Amino acid sequence: MTEIYPDSPHVALGAIPNFRRKVFRHEHHLLPMKMQSGPKAMTENNLWGRQQHRSDMADEKDIEIARKMIEKSSKIAVLTGAGISVDSGIPDFRSEGGLWERYDPHEYATYESFLRNPTKFWEMGQELAEVFLKAKPNEAHMALAELERRSNLLGIITQNIDNLHQTAGSKRVVELHGSFLRAYCLECNTEYVGEAIHQRVANGEIPPKCDKCAGVLKSEAVLFGEPMPETAMSEAIGICRAADLMIVIGSSLTIYPAAFLPQLAKNSGARIILVNLEGTNRDNIADVVLRGRASEIVPRIIGV
Ligand code: APR
Repeated sequence: MTEIYPDSPHVALGAIPNFRRKVFRHEHHLLPMKMQSGPKAMTENNLWGRQQHRSDMADEKDIEIARKMIEKSSKIAVLTGAGISVDSGIPDFRSEGGLWERYDPHEYATYESFLRNPTKFWEMGQELAEVFLKAKPNEAHMALAELERRSNLLGIITQNIDNLHQTAGSKRVVELHGSFLRAYCLECNTEYVGEAIHQRVANGEIPPKCDKCAGVLKSEAVLFGEPMPETAMSEAIGICRAADLMIVIGSSLTIYPAAFLPQLAKNSGARIILVNLEGTNRDNIADVVLRGRASEIVPRIIGV
């Protein structure tokens, strides 16, 4: 059985147009996806990577410590993952009942599998799009938008493709894994924006084809094994380097390069607050770990 290493340059579902022209040159992350056979790859860190433990819920004292850290900080970076949108009705990837439990990512979400059979991806993509289009930002998204209005936020780096930060009113959003609202033609690069693309798929056009050249359309959601969007990646790195505080919300931190960003911020002198329902692979680098639901904890630490 073929497995994909957790530290391969993969990500969610999609890619950004610039990115196909100008590839991000971070050595490690540009390596082609590493493949391996055999049982060794079936570790807790494979693509499905269910987390191992759930610890105590955040207490008032820790919430207060985090709130003060945010209040005193002048350069805040935020990194979000699928967990922040769970309370908006969008399942995450690796929790029980997560997306990768129903769809084998090797079959549905690698760049290679897309080129082999784009229909599979678009079938899953259509199901996701229906969920995304119905979802509304929750209290955590709203609180982050408020944090930006207070002007000490450098930016939100998100691994999510659901557009909920923007819907909540956040302006400085770096979409590390692309967006479900953008697609492009694999043949002629024509870009397609908005819900219309999903409407076509819903109407039975699977895979959707380019109006100009009839080439297959690919969602911009970055697939496993696909290079990262260069502009988004360099913006994310810049934000992490400049930050004096990073708040990480709702990510298992298993997928690189996103999982490396908290360490980068820490190495650059930032303190780290981690908000997540379960333990992550990076709890050990956090100054404060707050266990619980993002929609409940984030408004409290931001003080809205
Ligand atoms: N509040 C806070 N955290 C939550 C909540 C919640 N309401 N619900 C779930 N979580 C936590 C889970 O415990 C889990 O640790 O959010 C985390 C989500 O982790 P993943 O499912 O691995 O999602 P993410 O880290 O965003 O995945 C990264 O992997 O397959 C890809 O491309 C996909 O962008 C995604 C990337």
